[in-house]
Formats: sequence, structure tokens, C-alpha cells
Amino acid sequence: MARSIIGYLATIAALLDFEASAAGTASYNGLALTPQMGWDNWNAFGCDVDEELLLSTAQKMVDFGLRDLGYYYVILDDCWSDGRTSNGTLQANATKFPHGIPYVADQLHSIGLGFGMYSSAGKYTCAQYAASLGMEKQDAQTFADWGVDYLKYDNCYNEGQEGTALITYTRYKAMSDALNATGRPILYSMCNWGQDNPWNWAQTIANSWRMSGDVYDSFDRPDARCPCTTYECTLPGFHCSVMNILNKAAPVLNKAQPGAWNDLDMLEVGNSRMTDDEYKTHFSMWAIAKSPLIMGTDVTTMTAQTLSIYSNAAIIAINQDPLGIPALRVWQSPAQPQNETYSTDAYTAGEKSFWTGQLNGGDYVAAFVNSGPAPATLTATMNDIFIDLVTTGSNAPVPRLMQTWDVYDLWANRMSDASAQAIITGNMTMATNATSKSNATSTLPVQTYNATAMSYANGVTANDTALLGVKVSTIAPMGTLMAQVPSHGVVVYRLRSQGGGGMRKRDEL
Ligand code: GAL
Repeated sequence: MARSIIGYLATIAALLDFEASAAGTASYNGLALTPQMGWDNWNAFGCDVDEELLLSTAQKMVDFGLRDLGYYYVILDDCWSDGRTSNGTLQANATKFPHGIPYVADQLHSIGLGFGMYSSAGKYTCAQYAASLGMEKQDAQTFADWGVDYLKYDNCYNEGQEGTALITYTRYKAMSDALNATGRPILYSMCNWGQDNPWNWAQTIANSWRMSGDVYDSFDRPDARCPCTTYECTLPGFHCSVMNILNKAAPVLNKAQPGAWNDLDMLEVGNSRMTDDEYKTHFSMWAIAKSPLIMGTDVTTMTAQTLSIYSNAAIIAINQDPLGIPALRVWQSPAQPQNETYSTDAYTAGEKSFWTGQLNGGDYVAAFVNSGPAPATLTATMNDIFIDLVTTGSNAPVPRLMQTWDVYDLWANRMSDASAQAIITGNMTMATNATSKSNATSTLPVQTYNATAMSYANGVTANDTALLGVKVSTIAPMGTLMAQVPSHGVVVYRLRSQGGGGMRKRDEL
């Protein structure tokens, strides 16, 4: 489809200057109405995975309040397999999974988590274990029988079944149909690295699609193994930096809609090769792009700083906004050269950009990114913020430009290191409901959120400060938004209108 349904609704809303509505849009299988959240072992552990790792990680996700923030799926990536039994059924490695896969699923379910597994739309997985091409029905039934809630489906060893959208669509649809036929709700996460432009066709068969080669733990380092810097790409590769993926994603982000998301790949936050500002930028931009938020670090040893990034409920609330409209890049300076090869993507050295997106209830998200070497003062005008409202070809006045907007800084409420450390060491339990943010066992304040007690959407409506951040300024009618943005950093605001803003009377002009 040329544009998503949500995109059309947003355009109509923009023309009429009223709120976009998600009514009428639906996920093809009813799942992932907001981007999926969870943890996957691959970024931190690669093939070094077993039952003990999954279950100990899951317990820490509960203890640290991460489950209650919405990190629901525990996803077992590649290297779990030991081939097939004599009747062709996939079987797990008995050393890594001594109690079998259904046991892992049961254990996760018993503590309120979902279970994800991995296979490939190829003869082998990327690590050369048995995979599901031609075996879709049998394998989907096996996954359903085992209690699987999520399938990450890779692209290795596809035997040349690629090169046109229809060939790739057909290959991935086979597993989509097989999963549906089991009758078990299983979130379907396509991992075909953007090959054959899945953002153009995957909305009706999958809940998300990877739009790039693999992320790695670097902010902007070019790497020959990730040769593409634009979305038109025949060799997705791996070792793609955060800025490489973000810039490739910018032109295709509007293809997402509730139930069908661009997947910018799993998060590297906590894996130690980026700075705190770089991880904040990575997390924030994945969130406002409406990418799935899949933690990719060792939860059992995570630091206070790492926990406080993954726990920023004000940022997560943007990701989980029910409208499901990704923020889009309004401007980039200097502009990204087209069709460059990896050797010249050093343009990121000085790059700055501004992003906005519409949120439920009339709020907007606005973000500045500075990937340059020095701090920068960046500004955006009302025309920048409401670019879609002022460029729709209508001469009608745009009331929002004439309104006063409150500006909430979504990192200002970040959990303190002391609070995060108290949670890690078990000296503080997390909030048990959306309004309780501290508890009797400690005098330390803790900013967190329990999305299982109150949805993010309801929490925003209730003006929960954990979700709104801190009000730092206002923008006057036709005014300017300004931010001091650290090197390799981000500033993310929620903008909320004070209302009013009709045309001024002639005698006031
Ligand atoms: C890659 C995939 C990674 C990981 C890996 C496992 O193709 O993009 O996320 O799953 O395979 O071998």
C-alpha cells in the first residue's frame, strides 16, 4: 500500500486541524496495537543461551519493575535448536534446555511474561540450525503446542527466494498463515532486514518488520559490513550504527500503523560501548519512531544508569501512544547526501535534526538530535512543529500555530541513580499502581510506572507526572521551541496546548 491507513487519517486530520483517530484501523491478527516490548538474548549473549539465562533474566525483569513498565516478551533468539526428531519436529538442545521448551514457557507465563522464539524463513537459521522454509505448518504447530506467544522469523539461507516484493512476501506469508491456523495468538516479527521493502507490503501479514541490517553497539561508526546508508539497499549486512539505522528509517517511518511497525532492531542500551547521552538518544529515537522496544542487554547485571534509561516511562508513553503515529523527521542539517556508500556517511559528524509526531488527545512529541561533536542550541518554529498542518495546500488558518503550548521535558524526571541502585539491590520495591511512586521501605523518591495497573494512555489523561515529565517552558503563539542539546544527545518534549488559538480579531492585529 502506498500509505498506511493511519497516514491517511493523519492527513485528513491535518487538513481539518482536528485530532487523528485510530478508529477503523486494526492489526491483521489483533496483536501489537502498540509496539511490542520485551527482552531478547542476542545482542548481549549471541549463541550463549540456555534455560537458566532466560529464567533468571525474567525474574529480574519482574523484580526491577520492567515487566510492569510493559516489557512483556522474553525472546529466545538463535542457537536453541538441536535439529529435528525422526518425524520432523523441531527439538531443543537438551543441554541448554534440560526441562524442555514448554517448561520455559510455563515458567514465564506463571510470572506474567510472554515467551518468544526464533526461526528463519530459510533452510537454516543464521547460525546454521534447522529452520522453517517449507516446514511452516509443522513448525508453527510445534511453537503453538509449546506455548509460544511470539515468533521472530529471520531471513538467512533463503535459497534465493528474494529479489522482488512478491517473492519475499509469499515466503513470509507462508509462516503468517501457518501461525494463524494454529488458533494461538502469536505475535509475528519479521526479521528480513528491510529486503524487498517490507514497509510497502507487510502490514497485512506481520506485526513488525526489520527495516535494516543488524544494529551494533556504536553511535555512528561506519562499517563496511553495513554498507547501506539509504533505505534502498541490497546488502543490509550487520554492524549498523544507531545513526545509520535512524537515517535509513526516516523516509519509511510513516508506513507504520497500529499492529504493524518498523523494527529498528533490538536496543543496545547497557552494552557499554556508547555514552549515557548516546544511549538516551538511541532509546528515545527508537521509542518515538514507534519501533518495538526490545532490551538487548544483560538485565541481571545492569547498572543503575541502564535501568533508569529503560525505565523512563515518559518516553515509553510516547512509544505506546494509542494513535500509533511515528514521529517524522522535519529537518536535517546538513541534509543527508543521497545514495552514498558507507565510506562517506561521516556526514553524521555534524548532523542535527528535528522530529515531530502527533499524539493521542492533541499532544505532540518534538525531539532534537545533535550527532555533532559539540553541544548545540537548536530551535524549531511553529511552522516546523506543525509542518503537516501548514503544508496541506489549504489557505485556511491553522489554529494550533496561534495557541500557547506547554513544553514538558521527558528526560527531566529520569529516575536518580540512587533510586535505580536501590531497586537493583532490592532495597526498594517498585510502585504497585500508577499513583504510588514511593513506598514505606525507603525514603528515596522513585519515578516509575505500572502500566499493568493503568495503561499509558489513561495515565497521560490522568496527568501522571511519571509520564508527563517536567514542564520547562511555554511556546507563545507563532513562537519558537529551543533546546540545548548535548553532543551525541537528544532532547525530547511533549507539547500540550493551553487551548484557545482561534484567529485574532482584526482590531487586535
Ligand atoms: C540475524 C538477526 C539477528 C539475530 C541473528 C541470529 O539475522 O538479524 O537479530 O537474530 O540473526 O543468528
